[in-house]
Amino acid sequence: MCGIVGAISKDRNILPILITGLKNLEYRGYDSAGVAYLKNNKINIIKTRGKVNKLENKLNKNEISNIGIAHTRWATHGKATSNNAHPHRYKHITIVHNGIIENYEEMKNTLLKEKYSFKTDTDTEIAAGLLNYYYEKFNDINKVIKEFMNKVIGSYAIVIMIDNDVDNLYCLKKESPIVIGINDNINIIASDIRAITKYTDKYYTLNDYEYAKVNINDIIIYDKDNNIIKKDIKEYKEENNNNSKGHYKHYMLKEIMEQKETIYNTVKPYINSIGSLLKLPDLTKYKEISIVGCGTAYHAGLVAKYLFEELTNTRCNVYLASEYRYQNNFLSKDTLTIFISQSGETADTISALKLVKSKNYPTLGIINVKETTISSLVDTCLYTKAGNEIAVASTKAYTAQISILSLLVLVTGYRNKTINENKVLEVLNEFKDIDNLVTPLLNKKNTYLSIAKKIYKEKDIFYIGRGLDYYLSMEGALKLKEISYIHSESYAAGELKHGTISLIEKNTKVLSSATNTKLNSKTISNLKEVLARGADIYLITDENYKDDTFTIINIPKASYFIKPILVIIPYQLIAYYTALLKGTNIDKPKNLAKSVTVE
Ligand code: G6P
Repeated sequence: MCGIVGAISKDRNILPILITGLKNLEYRGYDSAGVAYLKNNKINIIKTRGKVNKLENKLNKNEISNIGIAHTRWATHGKATSNNAHPHRYKHITIVHNGIIENYEEMKNTLLKEKYSFKTDTDTEIAAGLLNYYYEKFNDINKVIKEFMNKVIGSYAIVIMIDNDVDNLYCLKKESPIVIGINDNINIIASDIRAITKYTDKYYTLNDYEYAKVNINDIIIYDKDNNIIKKDIKEYKEENNNNSKGHYKHYMLKEIMEQKETIYNTVKPYINSIGSLLKLPDLTKYKEISIVGCGTAYHAGLVAKYLFEELTNTRCNVYLASEYRYQNNFLSKDTLTIFISQSGETADTISALKLVKSKNYPTLGIINVKETTISSLVDTCLYTKAGNEIAVASTKAYTAQISILSLLVLVTGYRNKTINENKVLEVLNEFKDIDNLVTPLLNKKNTYLSIAKKIYKEKDIFYIGRGLDYYLSMEGALKLKEISYIHSESYAAGELKHGTISLIEKNTKVLSSATNTKLNSKTISNLKEVLARGADIYLITDENYKDDTFTIINIPKASYFIKPILVIIPYQLIAYYTALLKGTNIDKPKNLAKSVTVE
């Protein structure tokens, strides 16, 4: 997983273009970065551990080049060191790579027999070696790429520079994305359009096993049998996205605050009337709903499961995409599989989707970014309107996902008559009024900060809840661990006594929510159990509890369709202020990436 950029121009210095492109791709990884460019007719490589800023500082400001490739890395094979950073070079061939060469050990052994030797721990250096081996054997790049694609197993988006062919860049792809932006005086290859939109809105995309030769005059695209193919030029339409941090210290805080608009923007097309709601797809024709996603998207699926099953009597299972592909999913044409993904590019989710597609079973996507692999593969796609989410820890995308899922539940209940018309209208009104419901919660900075002050020095924190509150505690714990690096785990409140309660001792911090009239008294009993063992408890609730043994955060009363939004906002902000006190890199936490494009 990583971000790649390659650029070639008649008359422009491409180095700032490569750096800007990489900065826009840092959501794909940011543990090391590198660039290779033509200098005095030779390929010069500069690499560093750390983020793109560091690479930029290492580059001589007066350096000029008109052809080059660059990379921002999220380590898979080999530690995040400068040596393992891309570009990787083997004799005539210099490459940047996004993906994983799964059979690299086998390729390496073949090359070792040919007296090749390697200096890094990466699969990419082996790919460079293999390309060089074929290049020396065939001396014909079309044959080289064809042979490479035949032999290599795994995923790759690769851009190649060749010593004796410095007027061209070559790129090839399988599973990892590649776009090629076209402009009069510059052509840019990149992992996605975010890296190129500053320079052009016209671009090609490559399909698996297609490859391209890119120079200043031409972009020639080939299929895997080396036939030249004609492709349509796509046009990128700028969304009205504000990508600046504004007056906020971090994107994450800005994005949390934006939720009062992003939830509304997402549901707006469907909440005007029952007629508008009925524009959503009819799920009553399926016997069962399956939901697949990773991380926060998976947690959004769990909220939907609860609502589908409790409120519409529709069976719903939720799966981690990374597990889904390797288990028996009992699929049939009567099961609709919903794929949730902010980025639309998560490799595990894509693989799960391809599996369902291969059997021709129905699929639906809930995606935030336009023009993605998942949105192009699903039968139907519903877009969340969260806008660009830049902070790695997902916040506004999550509430947008649960909002659209809530409406899918609502319309399903209306259609199958488990939810009556009055209830539907009541929920639509709540969504219309969402700003007034969430704004007071967003503004309780002092409450969240005072809790953060009490927990930020902890090593372990427990999150507990029942039913919907349990699923929300999973997302709450994920937010905290992602950005504060405090070990935080969620447990079903009733399950604590079967093991985990042994970890509770004096002053152990326990965060919880109790927003379910049927289950609250049970959750409170479980909280009393941990209180009796010395725990320090923080409770989010819409009930009017008067209990000064707990710290209580009150949220407004609302229907089950809105409750998840109201519970998660305090959890998000407690995580944010805790990380702030710890001084971590909130928008780009260590070891993580916004979009995980490897399995
Ligand atoms: C990464 C991100 C998470 C995100 C998950 C799924 O792990 O760090 O924030 O929830 O991927 O991403 P997706 O784009 O598919 O929603």
